[in-house]
Amino acid sequence: MRAPSSDLPLVLDRVSLSAGPTTMLDRLTVTITPGAPTLIIGPNGSGKTSLLRLCMGLAAPSAGTVSWGGRTDRGPARRAILFQKPLMLRRSAAANIVYGLVQAGCPRRLRAARAEELLKRVGLLDLATRPARRLSGGEQQRLALARALARDPEILLLDEPTASLDPAATRFVEEIILMAAQSGTKIVMASHDLGQVRRLAGDVVFLVRGRLREHASTADFFERPSTPEAADFLRGDLVL
Ligand SMILES: Nc1ncnc2c1ncn2[C@@H]1O[C@H](COP(=O)(O)OP(=O)(O)OP(=O)(O)O)[C@@H](O)[C@H]1O
Ligand SMILES: [Mg+2]
Repeated sequence: MRAPSSDLPLVLDRVSLSAGPTTMLDRLTVTITPGAPTLIIGPNGSGKTSLLRLCMGLAAPSAGTVSWGGRTDRGPARRAILFQKPLMLRRSAAANIVYGLVQAGCPRRLRAARAEELLKRVGLLDLATRPARRLSGGEQQRLALARALARDPEILLLDEPTASLDPAATRFVEEIILMAAQSGTKIVMASHDLGQVRRLAGDVVFLVRGRLREHASTADFFERPSTPEAADFLRGDLVL
């Protein structure tokens, strides 16, 4: 059941994020609304991961405000984040998912069946009893996705979830992401794969050196990029 208050829209208003002399994000204003996935793209170091951390509430902005459904408290919420390198508990694959279910307040009697359903959804049912840390990188990534979905998040933040996967596993994970999106989870995802952006995104947030250069529908972004940097990036020759 959905919490009565929603975390959407997620609004970043003139947000900057710095650490010492480094400015990771520079006066960014973006509104993320319910609907199809929002994909965050940009060259290495452009601030994609930093933006996801702010959206999760893991970092506080150095300037500006981040708000979720009009609230600025970063406290516990129905948000989940999946990092580029997922952390696995030193337990079986199934137990890693049960951990997510416990965090989401899933009643004890429902946990085993729900864990099985989630393992099946990500194609890992056969590996349920395997220690999670002995799964391959791609399998761990899928397990981490199942663990995040176990929390039934309203917003799911994904940091390049298919970066280390082969093409078949990538398509498989994309299907899971689309299913989650169709059942009402808002996906906000960083990706370097422009084919994937076309397949998944409803809108695209394009960053260069910590600045928002474009926020457009996927069709507009690919067909009518409005900044020279976006046009260069799409051609594969953005020089920084
Ligand atoms: N804790 C930190 N302290 C100082 N600088 C940082 C910190 N975290 C990130 N940075 C710097 O901030 C910039 C943005 O980093 P970020 O990880 O958000 O980029 P990214 O777009 O996710 O890059 P990639 O495509 O390589 O994953 C980079 O220049 C990075 O070196
Ligand atoms: Mg990153």
